[in-house]
Amino acid sequence: MTAAPAPKAGAADNAAGLAGGGPRSTPRHVAIIMDGNGRWAQQRGLPRAAGHKAGAESVRRALQAATDNGVEVLTLYAFSSENWRRSSEEISDLTALMRYYLERELKTLEKEKVRLKLIGDYSAFGGELVERLERAVERCADNSRITLVVALNYGSRAEIAAASRRLAAKAVRGEIELPAITEQAIGAELQTADLPELDLLIRTSGEVRLSNFLLWQAAYAELLFLDTLWPDFDEAAFTNALAVYARRQRRFGGR
Ligand code: FPP
Repeated sequence: MTAAPAPKAGAADNAAGLAGGGPRSTPRHVAIIMDGNGRWAQQRGLPRAAGHKAGAESVRRALQAATDNGVEVLTLYAFSSENWRRSSEEISDLTALMRYYLERELKTLEKEKVRLKLIGDYSAFGGELVERLERAVERCADNSRITLVVALNYGSRAEIAAASRRLAAKAVRGEIELPAITEQAIGAELQTADLPELDLLIRTSGEVRLSNFLLWQAAYAELLFLDTLWPDFDEAAFTNALAVYARRQRRFGGR
């Protein structure tokens, strides 16, 4: 039997936590496109809002499972910049649910030492919800057991465009030279700059696309598309996803 070749260390390896000790079997950073709430409700003859409510329970379970398994960052796509195309009734159901979730779960987030971070232009949600969101972020700022990143009114292309504009503005002002606009420099302008590299991206409900979520960050992530509808995604499903990840061989372009 021949021994498997040792993974080659490179910048991506270091960023993904491979430096020195070989591949990590637990992803540091997991992101989820939580899809299928509507179909889950439809299958039961329930209104879409019931699917989102059940989806919020899955959020609680996924966060618990991520924490229990030593994942450092869980990033959830809660509302995309394209979701504004939904009916005003559904949008208000979703925002009401977020408000309710924040109210009900904030104590748990504090108790479980969860740091909360928001990405996306969440200011679009208006006064009261924005205040609540920011208050929750503040109250959880010193927590360090796990970081829960909630993407709200998030779109990856808009994020990259904004980062590009900021770098271009620095160049126009003469603060940086053009060669300084490197991959690292762009990464450092993204809203995820303070987070470890994305290791695993999961999408539920059988759809096989990224839908403008973490396009830059997913460059070397393992992608996992599951048929499970988001409200059915439980602790066991999360643990299974981690097991699939552990079996994948990450090469980062090498061999
Ligand atoms: C996709 O299902 C899901 C969403 C657009 C919203 C996700 C929101 C939650 C899970 C609830 C609240 C979130 C938090 C962080 C508390 P879909 O409606 O597109 O389902 P379908 O494709 O079956 O219609």
